[in-house]
Amino acid sequence: MTQSATTDVDAAFTLSLPKVELHAHLTGSITPQCLHEIWQQRKLSDPNLALGDPLELLSKDKTWNATTFFPLFSSYIYALCSTRESIIYSTNSVLQNFKEDGVVYLELRTTPRSSEGVSKEAYIGLVLGCIDNFEGKEAIPTYLILSIDRRSTASQAMEVVDLAIRYKERGVVGVDLCGDPSKGDVSVFKAAFTKAKQHGLKITLHFAEVPASSSELELETLLRFGPDRLGHVIHVPEEMAHEIMRRRIGLELCISCNVQASLTEGGVGEHHFGWWKDRECSIALCTDDLGIFGSPLSNEYLLVAETFGLSRKELLKLSGRAVECIFGGEEEKQRLLALLVRQEK
Ligand code: IMP
Ligand code: ZN
Repeated sequence: MTQSATTDVDAAFTLSLPKVELHAHLTGSITPQCLHEIWQQRKLSDPNLALGDPLELLSKDKTWNATTFFPLFSSYIYALCSTRESIIYSTNSVLQNFKEDGVVYLELRTTPRSSEGVSKEAYIGLVLGCIDNFEGKEAIPTYLILSIDRRSTASQAMEVVDLAIRYKERGVVGVDLCGDPSKGDVSVFKAAFTKAKQHGLKITLHFAEVPASSSELELETLLRFGPDRLGHVIHVPEEMAHEIMRRRIGLELCISCNVQASLTEGGVGEHHFGWWKDRECSIALCTDDLGIFGSPLSNEYLLVAETFGLSRKELLKLSGRAVECIFGGEEEKQRLLALLVRQEK
């Protein structure tokens, strides 16, 4: 059953609400239209390009689940966005979309990958270059989180951490663990996350996304990495939820992603946001993969307002709860809190 409640919030309000986005995968945030434009360009220079039109592959009526969703990256989007030009074009488009949606602070995450003449390090350089040169960047300060894919070896994970350390001065603020939750043994990443922490990087982990990645052993192992934030937190035993609160770990909740990919049961009204919203903890509503799930952050705020009957005042407070757990430092926090206070008047 999906609740529907009265609220004074509308789409114009959630668009103008100053919002922080903390869980957005760069490659998953590229819209089908942008991928289509890249596909057209690539087709021009290579008529034999063996990739179908993204507008068909990612059409609006497509539904995803954990089995069909993850291969999409390695089998399709990475192959399409493999050139220097396509990485720059898509990154700029992602930044522009978040800006137009009223996001006033962005932590973008991406997995260092190498492709046609672009090394992992060059890839990071290209993305950071786009962030540095983005027109209107003052309106949307953007930081980078480097992701470790669960399929990685311990040494590949360490390579990501070393890159994160090397590019800290240029705006890399943390390290993430992501990828297909049915794959990998997370215990092998202990040394990598320990090193990241020792070098002052923050840690965020995809956590308890599907039953297969939610054994007590796995969740305990991940909590021992000392995460600052956790993404999804779906299959979490209540006792552990209280431990998460006690440790003041921030939560990145991706409602449309969870509902659309059937990671949670029922609609928005049954989402565990309903449980966490009344607890004492930092919560950030997040889009995860805007390009695939098609719900901008302003829509995530609208959904919770309509479903849980939250008022304008409560949404401003909710946006402030996301500010509490940003990785970008105290000065950014103060700027964002001031923006929210101004909006309240
Ligand atoms: P990238 O890191 O910018 O290349 O973004 C794509 C990566 O994010 C892929 O490895 C995906 O598996 C991963 N990813 C996207 N959404 C999710 C999610 O909901 N859970 C875990 N990993 C994800
Ligand atoms: Zn994610």
